[in-house]
Amino acid sequence: NNYVVIMAGGIGSRFWPFSRQNHPKQFQDILGTGKTLIQQTTDRFKEVCSQENIYIVTNDIYYDLVKEQLPFIPDEQILLEPIMRNTAPCIAYACYKIAAKNPNANIVISPADHIILKEGEFTRAVTTVLDETAKNQDILATLGIQPSRPDTGYGYIQVLFNQPMGALSKVKTFTEKPKLELAQAFMESGDFVWNAGIFIWHVQAILKAFKKHLPSIGDLFEKISHHYYTEQEKETIKETYYMCKNISIDYGIMEKAKDEVYVLPCDLGWSDLGTWKSLFELSEKNEHQNVLHGNVLAYDTTNCIIKTPSDRLVVVQGLSNYIVAEKDNVLLICNKDEEQRIKQYLTEAKEKK
Ligand code: GDD
Ligand code: MG
Repeated sequence: NNYVVIMAGGIGSRFWPFSRQNHPKQFQDILGTGKTLIQQTTDRFKEVCSQENIYIVTNDIYYDLVKEQLPFIPDEQILLEPIMRNTAPCIAYACYKIAAKNPNANIVISPADHIILKEGEFTRAVTTVLDETAKNQDILATLGIQPSRPDTGYGYIQVLFNQPMGALSKVKTFTEKPKLELAQAFMESGDFVWNAGIFIWHVQAILKAFKKHLPSIGDLFEKISHHYYTEQEKETIKETYYMCKNISIDYGIMEKAKDEVYVLPCDLGWSDLGTWKSLFELSEKNEHQNVLHGNVLAYDTTNCIIKTPSDRLVVVQGLSNYIVAEKDNVLLICNKDEEQRIKQYLTEAKEKK
């Protein structure tokens, strides 16, 4: 009864200009491992469920990329969205569709763009939680990561009772993307873990949660259930998405569903390759703490990540704590601590064009 849903419809806007709308980061081999992030993600679930239970949800403009990179996934398991509506509609679509086939499904929801170095630990954590959610069909579980910095791009989870590492704990509070001061306070208190964004639940638990916390979305996808796996699916999904509100599962359900939320704190060598800083932290640095990808000469420069095309010589002097990134027709130069603003710059850049 185990299923995996991979959410792969984001455009990775905080990783701009490396991640572009027509070729987002999940379809790129960012670390140079020989596999794209979505290929690595799919591989990671080999031991958790069989191929015919892996679903990919993405925008329909990425259909060809999915077919090319994951040729073993049949069309029936590739769920195409006509527009981006964030993760709540994406999860509703997949879970209502799986429920129509198997009302007893036990589902893992995974982002497509994470790095997990400890694969064995990951499989163990996921299967531990799947055993629980198969038994307790009310709980909404997530994996928790020990925070290493007051990052405002993550969800922060406070556990109710401090359980030993590797045990499922009831959650006291869930705060999505807090302001910096709050993130700092959370870190200092030592009571919080980051939400890894990998959710595990029995399909009936999430359908119930949609009914309770996001009924407008739940009702839309329930109403069209009889169209799943038929010719009409594409057309009705299109209409449905245009009626759906744009909201993430974190704001829409996880923050609200207090009593049902559980977390398994674990040590996975996890990283959300969401931003330049996360790539910086993960990459090997030179003796001046710089990450240099490309043909770069750096003088009196520290703590920078510079990623530029290799056919162009880049010379920098006196730079500290900066991102310098060039791809195609865009050059970005941005303070590393202000990287959450890149999303806004991308929007403004689009308007300028
Ligand atoms: N299909 C589809 N459609 N996928 C989407 C959409 C959409 O409209 N929007 C985002 N995704 C995919 C992204 O491609 C990514 O794989 C995943 O959903 C999560 O979206 P992000 O936009 O990367 O979320 P986030 O990083 O800001 O926040 C989430 O992840 C953090 C950990 O990495 C939250 O769950 C946080 O609480 C969490 O800490
Ligand atoms: Mg992310």
